Amino acid sequence: MLSKKTIAVLFGGVSSEHDVSCVSAASVLDNIDEGKFEIYKVGITKTGRWKLFTGDNSLLPNDKWDTPEYTTHAFIPPDSEIGGLMIFEPQGVRTVKLDAVFPVLHGKNGEDGTVQGLLQLAQIPYVGCNCAVSVVCMDKALTNSACDMAGVAQANWVEMIKSDYLSDKESCVANAAEYLGYPIFVKPANAGSSVGITKAHDETELEKGIEIAFAEDDKIVLEQGIDGWEVECAVLGNENPQASVVGEILPCNEFYDYQAKYQGDSGLAIPPVNISEQKVQEVRGAAVEIYKSLGCQGMARMDFFVDKVSGEVLFNEPNTLPGFTSISMYPKLWNVSGIKYSDLLNRLIELALERGGKI
Ligand SMILES: Nc1ncnc2c1ncn2[C@@H]1O[C@H](COP(=O)(O)OP(=O)(O)OP(=O)(O)O)[C@@H](O)[C@H]1O
Ligand SMILES: [Mg+2]
Repeated sequence: MLSKKTIAVLFGGVSSEHDVSCVSAASVLDNIDEGKFEIYKVGITKTGRWKLFTGDNSLLPNDKWDTPEYTTHAFIPPDSEIGGLMIFEPQGVRTVKLDAVFPVLHGKNGEDGTVQGLLQLAQIPYVGCNCAVSVVCMDKALTNSACDMAGVAQANWVEMIKSDYLSDKESCVANAAEYLGYPIFVKPANAGSSVGITKAHDETELEKGIEIAFAEDDKIVLEQGIDGWEVECAVLGNENPQASVVGEILPCNEFYDYQAKYQGDSGLAIPPVNISEQKVQEVRGAAVEIYKSLGCQGMARMDFFVDKVSGEVLFNEPNTLPGFTSISMYPKLWNVSGIKYSDLLNRLIELALERGGKI
């Protein structure tokens, strides 16, 4: 029999999506194949402390995992000779070599290339996109620029830097409004979960939205508002990525804001109810093409609009570490496409191992 691979699952983290990550990780840990993998569960607190967790997965939501009874200080150092975990036990430091890491983290220090950079230094294979690709896909200005360069169809957009805005608010607002036309979506370049995103219908709302977005980040993105159906496609693979079926978001609010995502009654339709089969295939093709041109590997969820009038398929954004709860879109799209949640986890770890630790 082949020996088990040693895998660390990282969860929690310092981002505003800490709680979502813990729920995602509980699902991952409940479904991962323990016959194939020896699992180390590593939690990162909201203040950035790394701890090995030995308790039950049911303790992950609401941070019930973080008690002295079930945790030991442990972290992954950048040292590639260690290539794994250092665990600080009362009797001394123990090291454990890791065959791969699954970062079930979202947002800052999880999805933005930082943890990926650490794992690259340590030369440990990991699930998902590499450091550089994660950086580009996290920052909406960098993503939009990369997509423009690749000729991807997307909403018109402009970038705004806080210091430029503060030195001449009036012309910044006027220029953006003239170029884009209303409505305009205002977004922090680096945030997530729709935090700090507003839709401006006029100049007063635009000024307010810019202030809200600058509270989250010193760089923001303004986009022409698309009147479109919102659809998502899951992509899986390294050199030869595959697209899942397509799902349609039916937001309960005017757009898919934080409330609509996590507290409201937004719907999901697989297959989509508002777009034709031909558009579905167009979205799947575009998802794979954009995934490849951005350099994604392992997985990403690719989000699009289909213009309600022209039918044009416009790219919205990639998500390189999408939600992984049992009701999250990424695993659900694969489930409907015929890949069970636990097989999907196996596949993602295999893809990490295939790519190896020297990226
Ligand atoms: N240009 C646009 N036109 C129309 N609607 C938009 C546009 N940009 C964003 N939206 C709406 O706002 C929502 C959130 O925007 P977006 O997907 O860019 O950010 P996000 O989901 O917070 O990002 P992340 O996935 O990084 O967390 C979208 O799901 C969509 O409903
Ligand atoms: Mg989004």
